[in-house]
Amino acid sequence: MSCEIHRDRTFLVTGASSGIGRAVTMMLLQRSAKVVGVSRRALIFTAAEVDAVDTDNFRSIQCDLSDFESLSELLEPEVKRISADVSYPLIGVALCHGYGDFGSVEQFSNERISRLINTNLTSHIMIARLILPVLKTAGSGDLVFIGSESSLKGGKKGAIYCATKFGLRGFVQSLRPECASANVRIGIVNPGMVDTDFFNHLDFTPGEVRDNRLHAETVANAVMSIFEMPQGAVMDEVSLSPLKTVIRNK
Ligand SMILES: NC(=O)c1ccc[n+]([C@@H]2O[C@H](COP(=O)([O-])OP(=O)(O)OC[C@H]3O[C@@H](n4cnc5c(N)ncnc54)[C@H](OP(=O)(O)O)[C@@H]3O)[C@@H](O)[C@H]2O)c1
Repeated sequence: MSCEIHRDRTFLVTGASSGIGRAVTMMLLQRSAKVVGVSRRALIFTAAEVDAVDTDNFRSIQCDLSDFESLSELLEPEVKRISADVSYPLIGVALCHGYGDFGSVEQFSNERISRLINTNLTSHIMIARLILPVLKTAGSGDLVFIGSESSLKGGKKGAIYCATKFGLRGFVQSLRPECASANVRIGIVNPGMVDTDFFNHLDFTPGEVRDNRLHAETVANAVMSIFEMPQGAVMDEVSLSPLKTVIRNK
């Protein structure tokens, strides 16, 4: 596969500053795509990455996506700008932003519940609402979400996190038939535990050995496989997990 495969094509990636979104961004830049990355912090390139990719192909939008006023103020003009630029058509979107928050429901304040649902679910729906008209008008494109194993199965202390991820999967399943007639493909990747900053503020981590944790790049490869399916085929859902699930309390 040529490393130029996405030259002059634009992708929007949320959660670009870290983890899975960062890995997707780097893979797209390696394929000469233009990437608009959205996160609160800017993505910081390492010296090796600066040598390996054209960082001018990356544009950063710093936005707290749980704040819907900022989302509209910053993303609406950006989506208009992208759709007006016919030289670099938008062909793919990966929504990789989100965080984990676990505990029994009664431990959550109303604010904590809203923040998690706004970040992990509602903002995804709002971004899809902004993006879909652009892809449908173009008559092609991919919109890929990052779900979780928590999109598939509930678990102790995960009620609100699972509610956001089940909700996302239901949203995705409903969008698919709505978008297929416009040749827009909708996908979701459901990873088990991935070795990222996700666990920094949690009281547990995956076990320490390689078989207990996925690499962000492994999940990003699944996203790239969805983007790179031949026309007329759709890889609509990918579930992947570490070979052995081990949870370690900190
Ligand atoms: N790691 C796992 O084990 C795992 C497993 C299954 C599913 N997932 C899912 O994968 C997705 C990515 O997580 P990750 O593992 O890559 O974690 P991560 O390394 O912590 O990355 C999370 C990304 O989301 C962005 N983000 C979080 N809140 C945001 C907000 N309010 N506004 C804008 N950007 C925000 C962060 O950027 P800023 O902090 O710069 O805003 C960061 O770029 C999440 O949806 C998570 O639920 C993770």
